Amino acid sequence: MRTPFIAGNWKLNKTISEARAFAAEFGPLVQDVTDVQIGLFPVFTSIPALSEALGGSNVEVGGQDFYWKASGAYTGEVSLPLLEDAGAKLVLIGHSERRGRFGVPEPDLEGEAGRVFGETDHSVNKKLLAALGSSLTPIVCVGETLTERQNGHTDAVVENQTVMALDGVEASQVASIVFAYEPVWAIGTGEVCAADEANRVCGVIRATVASKLGAQAGEAVRIQYGGSVKPDNARELLALEHIDGALVGGASLKADSFAQIVQAARG
Ligand code: 13P
Repeated sequence: MRTPFIAGNWKLNKTISEARAFAAEFGPLVQDVTDVQIGLFPVFTSIPALSEALGGSNVEVGGQDFYWKASGAYTGEVSLPLLEDAGAKLVLIGHSERRGRFGVPEPDLEGEAGRVFGETDHSVNKKLLAALGSSLTPIVCVGETLTERQNGHTDAVVENQTVMALDGVEASQVASIVFAYEPVWAIGTGEVCAADEANRVCGVIRATVASKLGAQAGEAVRIQYGGSVKPDNARELLALEHIDGALVGGASLKADSFAQIVQAARG
């Protein structure tokens, strides 16, 4: 039985005091929840304050990104040991907003959404291998753009991202990895992927893990869906076979809506 995992990705939002205020409101709403893993990804500057505010609770804090080296001449970066030192227990890897060509949004996406920070499948793999050597639980994000979906490449894109991420990973390590299927076209658009399609693609990720690392690894790996998850669509998504949780953006910024999504994972 895979424990459901609901995580909130705050992206570039909330000051330190806003993060503290969220913790004060959210903590009590979920304090009795023992059957769902709960995580929050604030901006780096809020990690110590949020970890402290939620200390001893059932809500874990994580970093939205990191560099795989521990220290050195890497201006602007943060490392796994520094995230651990700040109180983090989780880390995101390869969110779609971090992938792609640096500073160049995908042509089918408006404004600043999409793959904008130059991350590649190779760097995602380096980060996953580094995270597996740390105390942090990694969530590896995969997903196709609208153009890739329209061209019928969804499964190939997701399979390829999964295989590349797992290069050099042992079967015994997979139980501590979480994948998040986040179709880029469903992120921040209000356009949720149909539940049966989200489940089907999460099944493709599971089958890819199984074919690379064995049936047991495929069974054990947890897979979240992300992309416009809200209190009113969470239950339908989370009831499905291959969807073990959610990676929530906008709806995680408000304590009550994020708590409702946590409740929806309780079955
Ligand atoms: P939204 O829930 O705002 O669509 O964002 C999803 C996401 O990117 C979480 O990582």
